[in-house]
Amino acid sequence: MSKIKEYLDENKDQLVNELVDLLKIPSVSADPAYKAEVNRCAEHVKQSLVNAGADNVEICPTAGHPIVYGEKIIDPALPTVLVYGHYDVQPADPIELWTSPPFEPVIKNGYIYARGAADDKGQFYMHVKAFEYMMKTDSLPCNAKFMIEGEEEVGSENLGLFVKANKEKLKADTILISDTSMISNEQPSISVGLRGLSYLEVEVTGPNRDLHSGLYGGAVGNPINILCNMIASLTDEDNHITIPGFYDNVEEVSAEDRAEMARAPFNQDDYNTELKIKSGFGEKGYSTNERTSIRPTLDVNGIWGGYIGEGAKTVLPSKAYAKISMRLVPNQSSEEITEKFQKHFESIAPDAVKVVVKPHHGGEPFLIPTDFSAYQAASKAMETTFGVKPIPVRSGGSIPITSLFEEELGLKSVLMGFGLATDDIHSPDEHYGIFNYLKGIETIPYFYQYFTEEFGK
Ligand code: BES
Ligand code: MN
Ligand code: MN
Repeated sequence: MSKIKEYLDENKDQLVNELVDLLKIPSVSADPAYKAEVNRCAEHVKQSLVNAGADNVEICPTAGHPIVYGEKIIDPALPTVLVYGHYDVQPADPIELWTSPPFEPVIKNGYIYARGAADDKGQFYMHVKAFEYMMKTDSLPCNAKFMIEGEEEVGSENLGLFVKANKEKLKADTILISDTSMISNEQPSISVGLRGLSYLEVEVTGPNRDLHSGLYGGAVGNPINILCNMIASLTDEDNHITIPGFYDNVEEVSAEDRAEMARAPFNQDDYNTELKIKSGFGEKGYSTNERTSIRPTLDVNGIWGGYIGEGAKTVLPSKAYAKISMRLVPNQSSEEITEKFQKHFESIAPDAVKVVVKPHHGGEPFLIPTDFSAYQAASKAMETTFGVKPIPVRSGGSIPITSLFEEELGLKSVLMGFGLATDDIHSPDEHYGIFNYLKGIETIPYFYQYFTEEFGK
């Protein structure tokens, strides 16, 4: 296994160039205009698995975008690692804010810039390449299965159905995912929590048409003003969320656990400087890291209505809209929270407007224990290659399919991610460190080795 470093040194350019080729395919799952590109990307992923030495590689069609599956069963008596990742990416908008075009990857200062570089193409591809290395060197110690989907960024609905219908095919002893981030390259970490999600859209309708804001303004409810007031009332002066029952089931983390979490290195000044903000902002009584991990949130993701073109147009609009997300923590249920939001939001609307709340996708929060073999294997693997033991941390993001994996396959996922919070995933100029990419490929074979050893115990 010590040979892997040499291998990476010798093949670095080739490994990077292959990722560049993958990043050139604009596999945007949210936008139907990219459907053909998403399919082309699935083909590309399929071919990469075939080239790496996987068997039974197939493109599994779904009602939405296809899932790519492949496997290598060396001995049914050995344990099986199921690798999950996603080849779809977020839309690149706002495209004008990118320094270089999102689907023309550029390498600069040790980073590769492109949409999907870190989320998740650069990360799942590490698994394909690590697997290829193990195949080439005849060092794969157990069975491997790959399931790379094309709809993670739009809620993984069809993957959920696929998993329910293919439990036998997906039978494994652990699920390994690289789709999260670490504290830093000097201090690796493993995600042991993900937040859940309720996402919805609201539509506020006032008068039956856009009106002259002079002739009607002051006497007719302006849906944008009203929507803003309604949204503002959803949090109080302590930045607590005011929806009745919102905190009912929220897990209270013990003072002891909070103290333990606070030991992870973090510097608020660096955080502020990096984001060009003067100070943090959030729920009273909680630190920045707590606000993004153990506490639920409510954020407006987009708000629109009325006239937003050049110059001024005096108009009292007929409609206003917003997209709102709530991140959820253990014991909150996405369905319940969506219902509570809906009821509350309708109840606070003044008679001057009509409100419609449309739920989008959701997902449940997810916690991972550290005292099971797959976590221990990941921890040992990272310790081997970084020279530092990774810290378990709860992440603020969501990968809703993890809770479904647990429900349907009875397996906890291990979130061994190699990204950084500063990779700008979902933002313009998304990038992934070449160091991180290679470190991932270096670390993954150790995971296989340690997991196979641990599993037999
Ligand atoms: N890979 C991210 C989630 C993530 C990133 C978790 C970094 C932890 C650290 C994933 O692709 C993602 O973006 N998930 C969405 C939810 C999904 C339903 C669209 C999210 O968290 O917004
Ligand atoms: Mn992702
Ligand atoms: Mn994402």
